[in-house]
Amino acid sequence: MAENKETVTRTVTVALAVCLVCAVVVSSAAVLLRPVQNKNEKLNRQTNILSAAGLYEPGMSGDDVRARFSNIDRRFVRLDTGEYVDMPDSYDYISAKQNPEMSTDLPSKKDPAGIKRKPKVAQVYLARDDQGELDTIILPVHGYGLWSTLYGFLAVESDANTVAGLGFYEHGETPGLGGKVDSKAWKSQWPGKKLYDEDGDLAIQVIKGSVPDNAPDKEHKVDGLSGATLTTRGVNSLVRYWSSDNGYRPYLERVRDPDARTAAAN
Ligand SMILES: Cc1cc2nc3c(=O)[nH]c(=O)nc-3n(C[C@H](O)[C@H](O)[C@H](O)COP(=O)(O)O)c2cc1C
Repeated sequence: MAENKETVTRTVTVALAVCLVCAVVVSSAAVLLRPVQNKNEKLNRQTNILSAAGLYEPGMSGDDVRARFSNIDRRFVRLDTGEYVDMPDSYDYISAKQNPEMSTDLPSKKDPAGIKRKPKVAQVYLARDDQGELDTIILPVHGYGLWSTLYGFLAVESDANTVAGLGFYEHGETPGLGGKVDSKAWKSQWPGKKLYDEDGDLAIQVIKGSVPDNAPDKEHKVDGLSGATLTTRGVNSLVRYWSSDNGYRPYLERVRDPDARTAAAN
């Protein structure tokens, strides 16, 4: 009997000791690996941003990405006025949606992109050319497709109207259907399209089907994804929402204004 008790005590002690050692190993690994994870997350974000802006070339190493990113500034923009504001480095417009003081509720009528809450401030990325001039403005965008929220970047040339690229880094649309938002062929339609027409009205549109070659407004139109009308509708709504007065339009108008352009390049 006594022998049995000793065995149970010993078993429990050994089990606890093993748990303790494992806990120490796991927590130490988590703490020690955190800087590496942070570095990789940052590199991944930078790659996504370059990719959306058409500045990423396949085969670029981490160092190449970091070097290219050294010509890109991160700034913060008040969405209602389009002015630059100072925010902590850790600020992110998606996380801001959890904070009632940093975001506002969007009633469904004013929420075509299905984002539910509108952040007051968003981060933007300004890419410069070799002379240090503003070259591309990269804007984070998101909105609901069919199954998921699509998160990505819309890149615009320094005229604050011509699209340089659109790319999504996260979504849950079906591969081969809505997932074709990631295909090279579909993405290649975006560079050169204009967000606004000559009167300054919002004109960009992703249509159902293909844009006819002779369409008069073809510079504003992008082919929809075949067999994925609902994802297409979602992408159309999110691009239009973020290009509208509720999104980056006040900011893009400031960039177009020569004084604001100087400010944007500084
Ligand atoms: C398993 C499955 C996955 C689907 N995934 C998508 C999708 O990711 N995006 C989408 O728009 N439609 C998707 N659809 C199709 C939609 O249900 C709908 O039929 C389609 O959007 C209509 O587009 P169409 O008018 O171009 O055919 C999926 C359908 C099935 C059965």
